[in-house]
Amino acid sequence: MLLGYKLQLEPTEPLINAPKAVFQIWRNREAIEIEAAIIFKQLAFDMHRVWGENDQIARICMAASSDELRHAVRCQRILSYDHSADYQPLTANYRVQFGPKDLSLEDRVLYTAVGVGCITETLSTALLLEMNKRASPGVIKDTVHEILSDEINHGRIGWAELTRYSRRSDPSWLTKHIPQLVKEAFSDEISPMLRDENDLSKWGILTPDQSDLIMQETLNKIIYPGLKKFSIV
Ligand SMILES: [Fe+2]
Ligand SMILES: [Fe+2]
Repeated sequence: MLLGYKLQLEPTEPLINAPKAVFQIWRNREAIEIEAAIIFKQLAFDMHRVWGENDQIARICMAASSDELRHAVRCQRILSYDHSADYQPLTANYRVQFGPKDLSLEDRVLYTAVGVGCITETLSTALLLEMNKRASPGVIKDTVHEILSDEINHGRIGWAELTRYSRRSDPSWLTKHIPQLVKEAFSDEISPMLRDENDLSKWGILTPDQSDLIMQETLNKIIYPGLKKFSIV
């Protein structure tokens, strides 16, 4: 039964010795997952108003909102290993207004879907792929892997919304908003996940240097060429 004993210990062992910074970063991710859940839920409601009660992409958005809440719970499981903190799980009990106030509902749906799906979720997927390679087996790798497999689908929501919007209207007005959306993705979603100290990659944390190259490649090879197909340049 030695093997069974070892398998049982592996998931917790890397976290027992984790520096404080590891838990701070996973706390940041918990907050980001909660906010993503709120944004996807609001996006689902707005999509139903624009595209009808039976809208399929709105349903996928609602499922994405549930996925994000599940990701937050996975973060909470990691945070439960931090016995030094008085830790209270976060809850999704607030509203987020995404984008400029003066957009019509249909344009706001596109703005949000592109910002959250095509940009943030696509960047997040690229980072998670790298984290997945570096993370130690056990609770960290399992969590990164689970989040990664959902984020790939969440990114598709943006491209699906962009495709159907462009059949009805010209989405090129979004061009002027792209630099701000990219900036916000970096400052609000990506930077809080990074830490420029030692090597925390076995705990699923990259340094800004490790992430910069991945981010630039993802923007230049996937996101910008994808948007260009819709005349968003
Ligand atoms: Fe997530
Ligand atoms: Fe996501």
